[in-house]
Amino acid sequence: MENKGVFYITTPIYYPNSNPHIGTAYTTIAADTIARYKRLRGFDVRFLTGTDENAQKIARTAQAEGVPTKEYVDGIVAKFQELWQLLDISNDDFIRTTEERHKIVVQHIFAKLHEQGDIYKSEYEGLYCTPCETFWTENKLVDNKCPNPDCGRPVELIKEESYFFRLSKYQDRLLAYIEANPDFIQPVARRNEMISFIKGGLEDLCVSRTTFKWGIPVPFDPKHVVYVWLDALINYISALGFGTDDAHLFDQYWPGVHLMGKDIVRFHAVIWPIILLALGIEPPKMVYGHGWFLGKEGGKISKSRGNVQDAFQLIEMYGSDAIRYFLLRELQVGSDGYYSEDALVERINSDLANDYGNLLSRTTAMILKYRNGVIPLPGENTPLEQQIIDLTAQTKRMVEQYLESFDFSNALTSIWLLVGRINKYVDETAPWGLAKEASQAARLDTVLYTFAESLRIITVLCTPFMPKVPAKVWTQLGLTEYPELHTWDSATWGVLTQGSRIDRGAALFPRIEEARPALPSEAIIEQPPTQPQASKPVTDVKQITIEDFAAIDLRVAKVIGVEKVAKTDKLLKLEVEMGGERRTVVSGIAQYYQPGDLVGKSVILVANLVPVKLRGIVSQGMILAASHDDKLEVLNVVQDLPSGAKVK
Ligand code: ME8
Repeated sequence: MENKGVFYITTPIYYPNSNPHIGTAYTTIAADTIARYKRLRGFDVRFLTGTDENAQKIARTAQAEGVPTKEYVDGIVAKFQELWQLLDISNDDFIRTTEERHKIVVQHIFAKLHEQGDIYKSEYEGLYCTPCETFWTENKLVDNKCPNPDCGRPVELIKEESYFFRLSKYQDRLLAYIEANPDFIQPVARRNEMISFIKGGLEDLCVSRTTFKWGIPVPFDPKHVVYVWLDALINYISALGFGTDDAHLFDQYWPGVHLMGKDIVRFHAVIWPIILLALGIEPPKMVYGHGWFLGKEGGKISKSRGNVQDAFQLIEMYGSDAIRYFLLRELQVGSDGYYSEDALVERINSDLANDYGNLLSRTTAMILKYRNGVIPLPGENTPLEQQIIDLTAQTKRMVEQYLESFDFSNALTSIWLLVGRINKYVDETAPWGLAKEASQAARLDTVLYTFAESLRIITVLCTPFMPKVPAKVWTQLGLTEYPELHTWDSATWGVLTQGSRIDRGAALFPRIEEARPALPSEAIIEQPPTQPQASKPVTDVKQITIEDFAAIDLRVAKVIGVEKVAKTDKLLKLEVEMGGERRTVVSGIAQYYQPGDLVGKSVILVANLVPVKLRGIVSQGMILAASHDDKLEVLNVVQDLPSGAKVK
């Protein structure tokens, strides 16, 4: 693939004063999506994230918890790293500001700025908000409290000897730079805010503290530690080895693009470029400030408000791709968005399970049924197919344009317009009707090919957003062995010529049954016992034909593992093996069986039941049990029949 050049993208480095949450996850997922997209387009990408550990508030939290500060942050940093792995974050590096490689660069820069007269010693007397790690002047306070709309907490009066950085000296140069580079601060509303903030006058910034020890010591005056924001911003180049003997990454990748929430644009668009201007280094290419996720009650989702969602639990319940999709789709560019679990479930069920997952399922089912599972090559296209072909090309262009401006929501909306159009095309062409007429064979080939080729293109376009999905789709379409059909450049019509064999699999996104209908096997348990009477048949349920019965795929399955499902008395999670395939089945039999009772038994599995998610576990089938009064027995095969054997 042609190398299109280099691209360096960063997230903020997060404070490890409590576990990561949905808000911090959003920025990291967004940066990851851009990094993945740029890689797919042929860029040499470097993607950095990390943690901002030298803050006074972190030392205070650790102290309150009675844990040494480093030990405290190590524990939380491990959580951040674990979460990023679960979310498939493809960062190339993870910087911690307590690392030596960072400390030496901060000390080098501090000493250099001091040497050239841009940092000077004086006395600071003023107000400080520790939760925000920000200095304030009295006239900026609101009701004598921190003016940050997300904070509003009391500020502290501090009086100490401090070093100051001459921000004011660079004010005009910064303004000239912003005006000459319209894309430097994005979106435009943030740019305007920053211009008026700078025009309001910049004061020199206090860049050292003496009243606590947690931080990087000023190299020539070690009773001072470096102010956390000066320290933190430098991570973007310390991670590239700037100022060390091995600065090849800096030479290769700087300047970069910084993505962050709107709360910290000011630090990145004012203090950071001034540090760089003072050092004679080019400012970042772009500083992009996205909106916030707000909780149901309207406030920003944040650690301090205590309205955060446990991201680990959400991933366990709904899967990482679904979380990524929801967050990226929900926050409109430049605005705030709401987070709620209901909205998440709604998106999963409508966009992912119904629209996309169902399209894949219908496509593979029809190819299996009408073409023995081999994707046919198309016959002649009609104007209807031409419409689809044009729409796929247009969608790809739109996705590219939107991603270039970090507009994830509209990029996904355009892909889903295409998904919707193909679902409509299924109904318009009614392949089940074409299949009945031999003369329509070529037409049916065209229609089936159109489904498969659109799904392939849609899946390529989804790749940067949902990294786990493509491999599943390639398996089902039989395209795993053809990486040349997975590339961004291949997402144009007609590239699929393989005639590959599809391999139907589990639902791409199982529906989330939120108002959980009783699990089939639980329903058995909870039914009032039927009292057979001599004059009445045992059952009076509707009669079915032999065809109805044949639609149920019953198989012998061997139980290989059983465990209790946490936080419920009724459910057991069974691992079963069925003709070489492993399945997980959640069954409402925990009041009747201990986990050890069933292992090794050959049970009867309803193998073609639509998967459902129960307590965060995808249940891929149902095992049969008979019940009467308060008794229940799982049906099992006692003779030596192989797993996978059909039950008729
Ligand atoms: O500010 N919605 O760290 P931090 C969207 N260490 N994004 C959110 C969010 C929400 N509700 N809550 C947090 C710091 N974020 C400094 C940064 S960089 C040199 C130093 C995201 O842990 C968003 O990106 O408070 C926000 O800017 C960042 O987390 C703040 O993370």
